[in-house]
Amino acid sequence: MSQRSLREIVKAMFPAGKGLLAADESTKSSSKRLDPIGVPSTPENRRRFRELYLSAPGVEQYMSGVILVDETLRQTDSLGVPFPKSLADRGIVPGIKVDGGTKDLPGFPEESMTEGLDGLADRLKEYADLGAEFAKWRAVIRIGKDIPSDACIRLNAVSLAIYALRCQEAGIVPMVEPEVLLSGSHTMEVAEQVTTRTLKTVIDTMRLFRVDLSCAVMKTSMIVPGDTSGQVASPDHVAEATARCLRATIPDEMGGVVFLSGGQTSEQATLNLNAIAKLGPYPWPVTFCYARALQYPALEIWAGKDELLPEARTAFLERLKANAAASMGHFG
Ligand code: G3H
Repeated sequence: MSQRSLREIVKAMFPAGKGLLAADESTKSSSKRLDPIGVPSTPENRRRFRELYLSAPGVEQYMSGVILVDETLRQTDSLGVPFPKSLADRGIVPGIKVDGGTKDLPGFPEESMTEGLDGLADRLKEYADLGAEFAKWRAVIRIGKDIPSDACIRLNAVSLAIYALRCQEAGIVPMVEPEVLLSGSHTMEVAEQVTTRTLKTVIDTMRLFRVDLSCAVMKTSMIVPGDTSGQVASPDHVAEATARCLRATIPDEMGGVVFLSGGQTSEQATLNLNAIAKLGPYPWPVTFCYARALQYPALEIWAGKDELLPEARTAFLERLKANAAASMGHFG
């Protein structure tokens, strides 16, 4: 278990000018990343895929934390150092994804619930012993005709609250992620309404279950139009809507807020974050916690070839550096 208090861990996750990497694709999603570049998704290739990012020289200048998966938490880098130790030695907070993925919500077509509460307390204890200091749980909220339902939002909010309580009990900071999906033909206005409704329900539920919000992190989508809506939103427009939504829902005592990239391009994710940061300060620290927007450019260069590692890592570092600047509103 970490020697640090929950409050100290939150502080270490949010130094000014740094952000987090989500390297928490499930085995299935890792295959989706590796198949297109012709790399078979074996445990060793997934280890190499993670190491591309985790061992890139200099990442600690811009990266304050990483979300890992069970497999990576137990693997070592090429020098034989366990990944959590290698990260912690560089001042990067190791995290772990602990949800068990989504399942259809019976009776609610196209909606889902996130599984994984069974046995969670024991798993968290083991993860803490392996060096994890924060944990992530992702709920998925889809926008469509007559959805999301109140039932879907409430059920997922209750699971998030129970998971958050379990984390805090284990000395682990919960990163609570109710992701409102970008997919769909909805407008930006609808995205704002749904995200506001979702975040409000999640916060109310966490309060009801007595989660210590000051020792918890909210991971949220930015407010952007649906990917098939035909609507295009400028970074300023995204920032106004996102800032309005967060200010209306996230209480001042929240430990911090991070954004997922959700299918935005790398460039959009940086420009939007920059515009959001420019509308600060906020009562809580705000930064990025991206997977695709940070990883894609480097992944395409690497293509599984060791000789291309330096070039791929340079591309990764560029994305990190750009987003680190954007987190302070200093990009460009
Ligand atoms: O749950 C989602 C990940 O943590 C963030 O992934 O930035 O590709 O949306 P993304």
